[in-house]
Amino acid sequence: MTSRTGRLGPASIVIESLGAEDVVRHRPQLVTLLKDAVDSGASVGFLPPLAEAEGEAYWQTVAGAVREGSCVLVVARDAGDGASGRGEIVGTAQLLLATRRNALHRAEVAKVIVHTKARRRGIGRALMLAVEERARRLGRTTLVLDTRQGDPSERLYTALGYHFAGAIPAYARSAGGALDPSAFYYRLLIEGGQP
Ligand SMILES: CC(C)(COP(=O)(O)OP(=O)(O)OC[C@H]1O[C@@H](n2cnc3c(N)ncnc32)[C@H](O)[C@@H]1OP(=O)(O)O)[C@@H](O)C(=O)NCCC(=O)NCCS
Repeated sequence: MTSRTGRLGPASIVIESLGAEDVVRHRPQLVTLLKDAVDSGASVGFLPPLAEAEGEAYWQTVAGAVREGSCVLVVARDAGDGASGRGEIVGTAQLLLATRRNALHRAEVAKVIVHTKARRRGIGRALMLAVEERARRLGRTTLVLDTRQGDPSERLYTALGYHFAGAIPAYARSAGGALDPSAFYYRLLIEGGQP
């Protein structure tokens, strides 16, 4: 089941949530998007070159998480032919819902990815706003995320009001073999963090 948010972002981009079956159906496009990011050096959990099978297995896992309700997957599409709005997927972001009883107000924002050919058009921002809107609806008011320190994503998160909590050195391996630091951020969607 697809749930449409509409044109939250730049003109000609449609933001929508994908149900589990949509994730499976759109897996080739999602693999292409992930491979573009990984192979161009993004730090999103994989090392280049991303093998097709590894990408497919990953999105299959995401489909399972969406099905069981622990992951909300949002995608950005080019508007395509205009009438149907079924254009190419050019960006994605996930909301990973904490499942422990003391953490049902919390979620992690993960795998915020925009295709290299579509960057700096406001799509990353639109995906983040869509994820936040879904988090609010689900009562997830404490959002956390991490990213490689020094990456452009830090600017995106800071511009959207995320607070820098700290950095951990030697957190994730980069394509070149070095262990890079990760920066951790949070954002409270409710003033003071309390409902
Ligand atoms: C991070 C990423 C998602 C940003 O997507 P995007 O669509 O290019 O971002 P936007 O166009 O919405 O940018 C919004 C703001 O973020 C900041 N920003 C984004 N990319 C930037 C860059 N390369 N340099 C400086 N600032 C940048 C700017 O403040 C920008 O606002 P502006 O364009 O008005 O100056 C994209 O660069 C990407 O996919 N990176 C690889 C994957 C990754 O590292 N993801 C994060 C970890 S999960």
